[in-house]
Amino acid sequence: MSRSAHPAGPRHADVLPEGHYTAPPADLNSLDPRVWSQTVERTADGAVSVGGLDVRRIAEEFGTPAYVMDETDFRARCRAWRDAFGQDADVFYAGKAFLSRAVVRWLYEEGLNLDVCSGGELATALAAGMPAERIALHGNNKSNDEIHRAVEAGVGRIVLDSFQEIARVAHIAQRLGRRQPVQIRVTVGVEAHTHEFIATAHEDQKFGLGLADGSAAEAVRRVLMLDSLELVGIHSHIGSQIFDMAGFEVSARRVVGLLTQVRDEHGIELPEIDLGGGLGIAYTPEDDPREPHEIAKSLGDIVTRECEAAGLAVPRLSVEPGRAIAGPTAFTLYEVGTLKELEGLRTYVSVDGGMSDNIRTALYDAEYSVALVSRASEAEPMLSRVVGKHCESGDIVVRDAFLPTDLAPGDLLAVPATGAYCRSMASNYNHALRPPVIAVRDGEARTILRRETEEDLLRLDVG
Ligand code: LLP
Repeated sequence: MSRSAHPAGPRHADVLPEGHYTAPPADLNSLDPRVWSQTVERTADGAVSVGGLDVRRIAEEFGTPAYVMDETDFRARCRAWRDAFGQDADVFYAGKAFLSRAVVRWLYEEGLNLDVCSGGELATALAAGMPAERIALHGNNKSNDEIHRAVEAGVGRIVLDSFQEIARVAHIAQRLGRRQPVQIRVTVGVEAHTHEFIATAHEDQKFGLGLADGSAAEAVRRVLMLDSLELVGIHSHIGSQIFDMAGFEVSARRVVGLLTQVRDEHGIELPEIDLGGGLGIAYTPEDDPREPHEIAKSLGDIVTRECEAAGLAVPRLSVEPGRAIAGPTAFTLYEVGTLKELEGLRTYVSVDGGMSDNIRTALYDAEYSVALVSRASEAEPMLSRVVGKHCESGDIVVRDAFLPTDLAPGDLLAVPATGAYCRSMASNYNHALRPPVIAVRDGEARTILRRETEEDLLRLDVG
């Protein structure tokens, strides 16, 4: 996450470490549309609103911390992906980014399919009424129970991830008297330019079957021999928070290469390819993500070109964006608690959440931005670090931020772009209560996932 260092803050300026800073924004009150969802604005009295609702009202009614999700923006992103890929392709939203029954209904209404990677996600999808044929099941170590439930429900595809799983899915499908559509997840050998923990297509990791060592071709042979499996296509997912399309292009080329090999060896043309998710979003204004229509064009062109060159009919394409849909649609609303100015260093601003509601900063060194949202301020910027209330010093939400010097306990801060992989990775560390998700649309706010209570914690504690 290298970034040019411009330690130009008016205070503590000489000690800013390399690599995480740009100069403080000219106006601390401005809200950059690259990181805030589309209905967020600063109103005439200085506070911020979303979906026409003042954040102070949201905090009053629902408490803090809370994830505040802009339903209008979420639906618009679904439509943008749907429209960009058109009728000849499918968009599977990756539920691991964030899933709830309301989200499943939005996806259904906006014409998206859903990728699930656990029994819990499958249960949520089915409980909300997503038709099973629009669901794909993923995972590198699916349990027999998960496979059984998915086959029984009639999911549209299971993405096979290992030789053992081929046998297990075939066996379960046979017992249930089904012919289960499957794809094979392949490892295409691309080094995606992202954090090591979220890159998934290089050789030395746990996902998929390798193209280079022949495992993928062997998996195709085995699946084709099994009557209870219907091989519909090949799947590749190269990683997450990627900006450079080059990795996807290599991946598409190699997947089409396997389709060609399958045609030559078995005389069949597989009808589908899935190129996974992984498209990056803006966490700070310096990030510059691609738009869905650019992505669709770039992937569509390369698949078409490669298939034409190989004399293959162009297969049906699918993609699995998670972060690119959910990420930008929500911010986390916190209340400022204690402030500590460390002379010559920075000011530590403690909020009422932390690594239990956003583990990404600690885990991936992720960068976020933050704004004072309960009022405007004309005060000077101060170099700040927004930290949580957990018992460790790595409990950082926003490592480097400029906030106004008149910041005080009781002010509300919002951290944008927390719609993906924040609530879904939230924990009860220190017996924290996971925050609610509040959906806002057209002047109305409603809870779609409620806040946990101490009773919830005690209910699990049966000793
Ligand atoms: N498809 C498959 C098979 C995946 O494994 C994933 C993400 C996606 C689609 C969606 O990727 P997206 O479009 O959201 O990047 N916890 C990490 C991200 C892990 C992603 C895992 N797989 C983070 O917070 O950055």
